[in-house]
Amino acid sequence: MTANELRSKYLEFFKSKGHAIIPSASLIPENDPTVLFTTAGMHPLVPYLMGEKHPAGTRLCDAQKCIRTSDIDEVGDATHHTFFEMLGNWSLGDYFKKEAIEWSWEFLTSDQWLGLDKNKIAVSVFAGDNDAPFDEEAFNIWKNLGVPEARIAKLPKKNNWWGPAGETGPCGPDTEMFYWVGSKKAPASFNDDNDLWVEIWNDVFMQYNKNADGKYEKSVQQNVDTGMGLERVLAVINGLDDNYRAELFLPIIEKIEELSGKKYDESTDVRRAMRIMADHIKAATFILGDEKALTPSNVGAGYVLRRIVRRAVRYGKQLGINEVFTFKIAEEIIKIYQGTYAELKKNKEFIVNQLVKEEEKFKKTLEDGLKEVEKIFEISRTLSSVVKKYIDGKILFNLFQTYGIPLEVSLEELEGRSIRLNHSLGLDKKMLTEEFEEELKKHQELSRTASAGMFKGGLADASEATVKYHTAAHLMLAALRQVLGGGITQKGSNITAERLRFDFSFDRKMTPDEIAWVEKIVNEKIAEDLPVVCEELSLEDAKAKGAMGVFESKYGERVKVYTINPSTGSGSVFSREICGGPHVERTGALGKFKIVKEESSSAGVRRIKAILE
Ligand code: SER
Repeated sequence: MTANELRSKYLEFFKSKGHAIIPSASLIPENDPTVLFTTAGMHPLVPYLMGEKHPAGTRLCDAQKCIRTSDIDEVGDATHHTFFEMLGNWSLGDYFKKEAIEWSWEFLTSDQWLGLDKNKIAVSVFAGDNDAPFDEEAFNIWKNLGVPEARIAKLPKKNNWWGPAGETGPCGPDTEMFYWVGSKKAPASFNDDNDLWVEIWNDVFMQYNKNADGKYEKSVQQNVDTGMGLERVLAVINGLDDNYRAELFLPIIEKIEELSGKKYDESTDVRRAMRIMADHIKAATFILGDEKALTPSNVGAGYVLRRIVRRAVRYGKQLGINEVFTFKIAEEIIKIYQGTYAELKKNKEFIVNQLVKEEEKFKKTLEDGLKEVEKIFEISRTLSSVVKKYIDGKILFNLFQTYGIPLEVSLEELEGRSIRLNHSLGLDKKMLTEEFEEELKKHQELSRTASAGMFKGGLADASEATVKYHTAAHLMLAALRQVLGGGITQKGSNITAERLRFDFSFDRKMTPDEIAWVEKIVNEKIAEDLPVVCEELSLEDAKAKGAMGVFESKYGERVKVYTINPSTGSGSVFSREICGGPHVERTGALGKFKIVKEESSSAGVRRIKAILE
């Protein structure tokens, strides 16, 4: 079965169960400062899981592009990825456990659909704890479907609980499905520690709401949120125990083999390096190909992008690739996906240019880093008669931190010099590794605290302030189009309770006059206290009415259209956009609008930061 067939079968199956098929959202979450990337299919749907009405109805399904950096240390094995596609179906206060589980089972095992061997399937359910009871209902549904009790594991929260995505919000017990990929007969009972049981699907039952006191309350709306890993299912369905041997990776691995002259099956180290390269360059290709035009940088999502590209380059070097190469692999990746994700083809030139630029930049830093290693060697040599030990884990960690030079490379370089110059540095590799790892751990703890901090406020917190900024963004886009011309389109936005950040297409700096003019128009519209009206229309009708949409087909068939100053009221339409909302009811609620910064975001894209006072 091909990836295309799997995607369409999944969507077709859930369509036959009354679900509306919605398109994948961007990889970069919109108006959501709490996470860097879309990490699951449910992510763009949070407002609807919280009770907001979705224009396409209460049963939805899609194939969503996702990036998860939390699993990055596991990338290199057969089944973990930074970028993956998640097939998902949702009930927004509609069906619950019985239908969700029975449909999962039907899709997996029915010959009409995936036809997987029932004897190779095991599941797990939530065992219960002080916060919520054992999920007996899920357990019994599986039992009634014929899954043997020994294959229904009862596991704690760590395994069988999902959410909330932020600190508070919808969450609940889940049930996970595993498929046996071993060559021997599947064991009678399920064991969570055995890697040959590959997790393929997760059905989450959102029946709780975690509140600010950390308590789990029964939620008003009961939702289902499921997620199936496309790459994993594609592998198991084709009888493979390694995702990288399946269609969405194999051509990438072959390209790496060609560039490096090494073979995937040569050794476990080579295999691991090739998997990491394939995974990371794929993630980078999708980030760069996203409509939101993100570039490598030293902060936030741009920093993640930078690190994965550099990590891939380092592994490439390790395999003996000396030329600039990541773009060649990206071209292969674009070929695989362009039929499904047209944005990759459209943004190909941008992807390739950015990769080349970043790789060259890294090569330059690497050179600087190696000069630093040289310096360290010399100091150590000079001091060796005075101090016993100059080089420690901290110095090596700094090299890694500042220049991106991995420990093993620093050690190799230092040793190489000491052999060439016949001067022993007496490096204790084991101790240095331990010291290095200690530093790394300290650093990771710091960054974990920082990223945990990012979750504060919670995904679901559509606070009053962010709603106002959301409406301000619509006013500003309309004003920009009046001042700079009708060619201006939105390229992305990011809203916190404190400010609005807005990217749009424009190829030069705005003049102070233009900025003042945009502010004036927005403030006039606020002063006029115009109504903000929401309608649900088909995408075609929305377009016919002249609605702007950033990601045109993102919301599927039926879309919400927000109009400011509708023609039925006072005068002509000022702004009309396809948008999920929410918005204020009248513009008068916004206060005073002020642009605090206008700068370049990337080639052909400007960025405005604005506040409401
Ligand atoms: N949100 C759940 C997960 O990511 C199910 O989609 O596993």
